Formats: sequence, structure tokens, C-alpha cells
Amino acid sequence: MGVDVGVIGATGLVGQEMLRILEERSFPLDRLRVYASARSEGRKLPFRGGEVACEVLGPGCFDGLDFVIVDVDDPIALEWAPIAAAAGAKVIDNSAAFRSDPEIPLVVAEVNPQDLGSMPKGIASCPNCTTMVLVTALAPLHKAAGIDRMVVSTYQSVSGAGVAGIEELERQWTKFDGSAEQLRRAATVEGLVSPGDVWPAPIAGNVIPLAGSMREEGYTSEEVKLVNESRKILHHDDMRVTVTCVRVPVYVGHAMTANVELQDALTRAQVIELLDAAPGVVLVDEGDGGPTPLDGAGIDPVLVGRVRVDPSQPNSFNLWVTGDNLRKGAALNAVQMAEVLLTS
Ligand SMILES: NC(=O)c1ccc[n+]([C@@H]2O[C@H](COP(=O)([O-])OP(=O)(O)OC[C@H]3O[C@@H](n4cnc5c(N)ncnc54)[C@H](OP(=O)(O)O)[C@@H]3O)[C@@H](O)[C@H]2O)c1
Repeated sequence: MGVDVGVIGATGLVGQEMLRILEERSFPLDRLRVYASARSEGRKLPFRGGEVACEVLGPGCFDGLDFVIVDVDDPIALEWAPIAAAAGAKVIDNSAAFRSDPEIPLVVAEVNPQDLGSMPKGIASCPNCTTMVLVTALAPLHKAAGIDRMVVSTYQSVSGAGVAGIEELERQWTKFDGSAEQLRRAATVEGLVSPGDVWPAPIAGNVIPLAGSMREEGYTSEEVKLVNESRKILHHDDMRVTVTCVRVPVYVGHAMTANVELQDALTRAQVIELLDAAPGVVLVDEGDGGPTPLDGAGIDPVLVGRVRVDPSQPNSFNLWVTGDNLRKGAALNAVQMAEVLLTS
């Protein structure tokens, strides 16, 4: 017998990836219902050779569903995830709405699936896409030698900001004539940045040291999430973490450098061995540069390369990590979590 699944936000970037992943995996799906805003009511989405029509959220819309996967912004998730749980569905939420709630597990399927054993509110959260990619790669090192401190710098793609992020980069590229001279003067190209845009500066031909919204003491929401969420997933509340998140004009795939200080000593060979054996991780450490976001886009595993001993301090390594923010960073992990719940 299959299960009935609802996907809220099915027209979004994560929602569309979700449908692709449900098609690709042997997930025992019986019936799929998809929800989006009133703008998309009745819109047909391709699924398993047929089509499924978008519905709007409303009373009774989750009746009979076994799982509801939430791929919308926080305020909508905050309102509708508890309604789905009250209707009897197990809810897996990709938004940030519940991630810091101590009664809601925050799970990376390869790292802490056991935390799904306690879902008192009927809801489980997926981490932020950057946290997900990083923690998938670093968890084996933490298990073997304990991470004492991490210094992380991210290079995050525009798809991390949803459909609006992709559209903004597309729109800006069309305003360039392709000359290096114009790219050098990009900030002055008329109409490149408009009121209401996702980013305050051009993202085409640029990098912006602001991913997420500005929060306390000059840190952004993305930076705060990575600190808090990595601690919660690894059950390591006093892990020292500091982060700088940067947006780059890449369509899909978040990349990051991590300087990791371990409590116990490991050799580079041991680190390589641990990464090589890690579930959901592919080590690409052939010496001719690390894996790029494009290498990791469209595939399931997180890619790790450029593994180096940091000679400047004891027990420390530098790594380069990249992964598809829409797949492992969101949709794939949610489906993996549903698979864990189905078999436990
Ligand atoms: N993008 C990523 O890399 C990523 C990774 C991890 C987690 N997340 C999280 O996943 C969630 C979705 O992100 P996304 O990038 O897929 O965003 P997105 O591309 O902007 O899609 C947003 C979705 O929300 C729907 N929506 C908007 N208002 C609604 C309403 N009132 N009722 C029902 N549906 C509504 C939209 O439907 P319409 O098409 O009808 O407007 C669309 O399907 C966010 O919480 C995000 O933080 C994103």
C-alpha cells in the first residue's frame, strides 16, 4: 500500500525539485496533492507522465494525507504546518519556521535520522540548505574526533532565494551588452537594480556579501542559521562556529570553505578515509582543483575537495564543500526523512 502525500509550494524551486525527486526514487507514493498560492490555482504540473493540478490551502485540504511536505516561506509554514499535523499527517518542513523549536527535530537524513523518533508536534524540520550541505560533509569528522571550532565562508547560488532570485539574475544579464567594459561599470547600468529586488546590489557579474537579511551585530539570518542549526543537528551546543555568507551569480549549487578545528588529532589520510566512507558524500580530491557548484548541481551527493592540513593551528583542516541547494539542500532530504519515517 502506498502513501498519500501533499506538497505545499509545489510551483516553487524546491517544490518542483520535490516532484522530480518523488518521480525518481522508488518512494511508495499512492496519491499526490499539490498546493500553491491562489495565483497558481488549477495550474497543471507534470508528474509521472500525467499532470497534477494545484490547489489552494483551505479547510480540510489535508484530510487523509500521510505526509505533508512544506516548501513555502516561514509565515505560511507557521500557519499551515500545524494544521496539517492536526489533520493527522506527518509534516516535513523546509522553511525556517520551526527549526529552533526544541520539540521539533532538525534532521539531516545521513547524520541524525534517529531524532525523527521524537516528533511530539507531528512536525520535523529540514535545515537551511547551506547547513545541510556542510553538516552532511563534516558529521563523520565530528563523530570521529569532535569539532571544536569551524570558520565557514559560503558562496551561495541565486536559487537559494527561490524563483525571485533566479529571475533577478536572468533579468540583469539581459541588460548587459556582453562587453567587459560594461561589466566593469555594472553598478551604473540603468535599471539593473530596481526597488523591490531581492538584492541591494547587482548580482550579475558581482558577488554580494549579504545572504539573507541583516540580523544581530551585523550577522545575517543565513549566518545565524548555520551557527544554530549545525549545533542542533550535531548535538553540540557549545561548538564554536563563525560564518560569512556570500551570494554569487551561480544558478544552482552552494559552495563553502570550512576551516575545522578538531578536539582529537587526525591525519590528513584519516580525514580523507572518513570523507570517502561518508554516506551522501563524494570526495573529489584529485589535486586539479576542487569540485565546482556545477559539478554538484543536479546530483544527490555533497562533493568535498581541497582537503588540506591547516599548519597555522593544531588539529585543523581546510575543506571545500559544494552541493545542490535544491536537492540535498532541501527536497531530497525531505523525501529521505519521509523514507526514514516509513521504515521506523
Ligand atoms: N531555494 C532553496 O535553495 C531552499 C533550500 C532550503 C530551504 N528552502 C526553503 O524552502 C521554502 C521554499 O523555497 P523556494 O526557494 O522553493 O521558494 P519559491 O521558489 O519562491 O517558491 C515559493 C512557493 O510558495 C508558494 N506560495 C506563496 N504564497 C503562498 C500561499 N499563500 N499559499 C500557498 N503557497 C504559497 C508559491 O506559489 P506560487 O507559485 O503560486 O506563488 C511557490 O510555490 C522556503 O521556506 C525556503 O526558505 C529553500
